[in-house]
Amino acid sequence: MNPPETYNDKVVRQFAIMTVIWGIVGMAVGALIAAQLAWPALNFDIPWLTYSRLRPLHTNAVIFAFGGCALIGTSYYVVQRTCHVRLFGDRLAAFTFWGWQAVIVAAAITLPLGITQGKEYAELEWPIDILITIVWVSYAVVFFGTIARRRVRHIYVANWFYAAFILTIAVLHVFNNLAIPVSLTKSYGIYSGVVDAMMQWWYGHNAVGFFLTAGFLGMMYYFVPKQAERPIYSYRLSVVHFWALISVYMWAGPHHLHYTSLPDWVQSIGAAFSILLLAPSWGGMINGIMTLSGAWYKLRTDPILKFMIVSLSFYGMSTFEGPMMSLKTVNALSHYTDWVIGHVHSGALGWVAMMTIGTMYCLIPRLFNRREMYSTKLIDVHFWVSTIGVVLYITSMWIAGVMQGLMWRAFNDDGTLTYSFIESVKATHPFYLVRLLGGALFLVGMLIMAYNVWMTVRRERPAPVPVLPAAAEAGASS
Ligand code: HEM
Ligand code: HEM
Repeated sequence: MNPPETYNDKVVRQFAIMTVIWGIVGMAVGALIAAQLAWPALNFDIPWLTYSRLRPLHTNAVIFAFGGCALIGTSYYVVQRTCHVRLFGDRLAAFTFWGWQAVIVAAAITLPLGITQGKEYAELEWPIDILITIVWVSYAVVFFGTIARRRVRHIYVANWFYAAFILTIAVLHVFNNLAIPVSLTKSYGIYSGVVDAMMQWWYGHNAVGFFLTAGFLGMMYYFVPKQAERPIYSYRLSVVHFWALISVYMWAGPHHLHYTSLPDWVQSIGAAFSILLLAPSWGGMINGIMTLSGAWYKLRTDPILKFMIVSLSFYGMSTFEGPMMSLKTVNALSHYTDWVIGHVHSGALGWVAMMTIGTMYCLIPRLFNRREMYSTKLIDVHFWVSTIGVVLYITSMWIAGVMQGLMWRAFNDDGTLTYSFIESVKATHPFYLVRLLGGALFLVGMLIMAYNVWMTVRRERPAPVPVLPAAAEAGASS
């Protein structure tokens, strides 16, 4: 008799461990650039350590290394469990892991060397872009190949979100990076002027919408019900949420280009779609949070659920703030200020990082054959340290941002500026110190996590898990 089919959890374990490692690396660089903004001398006059080179290293590391490993790893776990079948293509899946790590290492080498396309969130030069495309297409083949072989007819909603994330990122990456290479390390984009700006922010905004949002919603739709041991609050709402979110996100990009030479009507369309976006975003948040209805008491004892619910609350907060900032009158105040940085990190740390952390705490014991993490107490400590960290980070940036906006637009009676730019920089300094403290706390939390993960996995011999028979119930309960 053939041995029973088992899940391919090896590749999920690899991605899960690298999520924690890249999280620490990316946030450590974040803390360093936060310190450099407070004390510029911390670049030690070494070109590789200048702010301009480390900032894209930070954004690439946290979004694509930390976030990317979390998304690819969890999507592989979820698609197998909800389709009741082993992952398609063992070798191809292994290639996506090693290929993605190669992309990350190439980024970590080229960005400090100053090799860049100069496009935000798409800095990597063309040879790395080609590698990303190859890895991403392989990822799509593994994911959709598994869906095609599924043993249950129904495709659980988490997979819809992951699928939208995979397809959209492929299209965004290819079109935004079209360029003419002139050497191995230099290329020129094919777009110019306002078309270039529009392409860049079509990409930039949808990278937020599909990488930092749709993918993590896929994660949320599987792991929140799993950890709460309850079905999702409303399956119907999740389907409405999906279609509404993906059809509205695409059109909101121009809110990044208010008051530029982009035609005015395009800016207004961007703002209008941003306001619309509030509805599906809050639908998703409510669906996630209400999954706990009837089981709120679990929040008292389960720090993993605390991570997830606080993450959803930050999701709600940042998707309320975003539409507000997309109004042209509000944007006139907030644009170019640290308010944007506060908004970014309420989404990135509050929503993305906290959902990832909660999910990893839920997933890692399952992957390593343990009932739970080594220490629940340490998860609780991590929760409080990181929550205080995020709050310090975003409140300091909000106050700094509004203050900067007001200082820059203050005029004297004779029409001259009330404050010079440098006065606003000086006034911001204390807030940079508070942000650094918040970021450092968040990083300390990640180190606590690394210790807890290490103690959980070090002596475990993960056993292969047999695939559930097709008759067993699909979805979050599987
Ligand atoms: C310890 C945690 C973190 C610290 C200390 C930190 C710090 C920073 C700093 C100092 C900047 C530059 C701000 C500026 O130019 O004025 C920045 C930018 C950014 N960070 Fe972080 N960060 C952290 C975590 C994260 C995470 C987890 C993500 C994403 C998942 C993230 C995404 C971003 C993005 C997208 C930007 C660019 C924002 C923009 O251009 O408007 N950060 N971060
Ligand atoms: C309804 C949802 C959202 C809307 C309408 C929205 C809107 C906006 C607006 C208007 C800006 C400022 C643009 C500027 O003045 O330059 C912005 C910046 C940004 N938002 Fe959001 N936001 C939303 C949700 C989120 C979430 C959930 C995240 C993260 C997970 C996020 C990440 C970012 C980033 C990274 C930037 C900075 C881009 C840059 O300039 O580099 N946003 N968003």
